[in-house]
Amino acid sequence: MAKMTGFEKYFVNRRGERFFEKLIDDLETSGTLKITGNSRILELGGGNGALSSLIYKRYQPASYTFTDYDPDQLALAQESMKERFGEVPESFTFQQADAADLVYKNGSFDLVIAHLILHHLGGTDAIFSGLNEISRVLVPGGTFLYTEFSHKKEIRAKLTEMGYAITYKKGLHRENAVAVKQTAKN
Ligand SMILES: C[S@@+](CC[C@H](N)C(=O)[O-])C[C@H]1O[C@@H](n2cnc3c(N)ncnc32)[C@H](O)[C@@H]1O
Repeated sequence: MAKMTGFEKYFVNRRGERFFEKLIDDLETSGTLKITGNSRILELGGGNGALSSLIYKRYQPASYTFTDYDPDQLALAQESMKERFGEVPESFTFQQADAADLVYKNGSFDLVIAHLILHHLGGTDAIFSGLNEISRVLVPGGTFLYTEFSHKKEIRAKLTEMGYAITYKKGLHRENAVAVKQTAKN
């Protein structure tokens, strides 16, 4: 698993809060996203932390586990949280973690977010194995929110096979933002 180059990180980290604001607004308006003060959220490959800051500002969820395998990205996200809120909120945990190999117990989260992460796992077999892990750590009835430009059809088909129903789907240039809700635990 190779770290992104500085050049790649520059482009990835340019995506700011405004982009995520639109996405969250849309999810909220469509009734797809229901984050409350009790929500336990896991974000995989959170990058510069722009989405997590926004979610914290709006909803103050009970817990937010922010992960990335790159320690530099984790440090950047933590710094940006401190800048925005004066300190890292108590409900936040920053962990260096591989999205393909989650250390969390079954059913630990109400919402798992993977924004432009799944393609980093590799080909379809690796992505499907990542989806199984995500499903394992989600509570029954939990929501998985992801954005992806690669293997889009295969991912949706796999999630349907795993008992997820698509509750939101939007094309953003080459990417699809999709939210799925677990309907049956396999
Ligand atoms: C394309 S960026 C997306 C960042 C952020 N989610 C966003 O959309 O702005 C991919 C991020 O995932 C991290 N990453 C790549 N592969 C990973 C893996 N296997 N496990 C965890 N994080 C990973 C990278 O370090 C990087 O921060």
